[in-house]
Amino acid sequence: MSTAPDDSALSEIEILRLLEAARDVRLRAHAPYSKYQVGAAVLGDDGHIYGGCNLENASYGLTICAERVAIGAAISKGVIKPRAIAVVTADAASPCGACRQVLVEFNPEITVIIAGQHDDTYRTTTAAELLPDYFRLAR
Ligand code: THU
Repeated sequence: MSTAPDDSALSEIEILRLLEAARDVRLRAHAPYSKYQVGAAVLGDDGHIYGGCNLENASYGLTICAERVAIGAAISKGVIKPRAIAVVTADAASPCGACRQVLVEFNPEITVIIAGQHDDTYRTTTAAELLPDYFRLAR
């Protein structure tokens, strides 16, 4: 069985580039209320990297997470199947439940790379691992 290029394993250099992009974009977070900055960087099936940061609002419930901003940037540029997403916070936190559901929509096997802003280590998982038995519509 041949493996499609977009399903190939991520290289260490791709992981490090994604983490760098997520760290850079995290510094642009609009988080005046929580002061909790999040940066995310998606690797598209086109080889490009799409960044996103969290966007808070004075009407708190309108907040958008960094992961969804990054996924939106990628999909709106024509990415069909995102290969990976790096998520960077101060404390190497995992994506929230809503973002997990958004990630599985596009690729349940997307590699999720998680790190702290100043860490020299990271951990990897997948969206399906983070959200077992996720909701999907029966077709
Ligand atoms: N946040 C994200 O950007 N991604 C997550 O997965 C969880 C939380 C943001 C939302 C809000 O701006 C701040 O982090 C604190 O919840």
